[in-house]
Amino acid sequence: MAYLKMAVFASHGGSNLQAILDACKTGKIRGKVALVISNNSKSYALERAKKEGIPHYHISHLKYPSQAQLDEAILEILAKYFIDLIVLAGYMKKLGADLLASYKGKILNIHPALLPKYGGQGMYGQAIHKAVLEAGDEKTGVTIHLVDADYDTGPIVRQEELAVLPGDTLEGLTARVLLLEHQLYVETLRLISIGEIDLEEISK
Ligand code: GRF
Repeated sequence: MAYLKMAVFASHGGSNLQAILDACKTGKIRGKVALVISNNSKSYALERAKKEGIPHYHISHLKYPSQAQLDEAILEILAKYFIDLIVLAGYMKKLGADLLASYKGKILNIHPALLPKYGGQGMYGQAIHKAVLEAGDEKTGVTIHLVDADYDTGPIVRQEELAVLPGDTLEGLTARVLLLEHQLYVETLRLISIGEIDLEEISK
């Protein structure tokens, strides 16, 4: 597997981005975050990229009114940095058809639940953990999947369970799941970077 050149797309805090960055620095992931894209000019993810000297772009619908124009702008930037793999980490925007087609089988997303449970439009962040607690589920978890045209429906690449503890608060469960996200994303990208996970195979 060639040295992985990743583009991370993030809309918010970027803690998954940071975990991936750190794992590239230690060599755990044989690759680098070559590019960070956010739709949110105030996202801390862009700050993290700036601190690490990583090329970063704010790409928003304000500047590119149509999905096609937005995709075209993103595709141009991805080509400029020879990106092999797009890593969505808390990216709240849907990807357009052109981008999905150009990077078919090369776009990952992380979802803080055991898909297909708690997936789909509007199911992100704490809304998920709230639903898990209200349902009284004994377990939750994290899913990493390939991205297709719908929310959270692509082939699953890795999934890991996490027990819901008695007395778990929304904040407590959110924090524990986020920690597992960091661990699972890093491990999954490590395995991809050494050829142990073949995304082509999974995306067939
Ligand atoms: C995480 O909860 C992730 O599962 C979801 O968005 C959040 C991203 O957090 N997709 P961060 O921006 O990586 O800290």
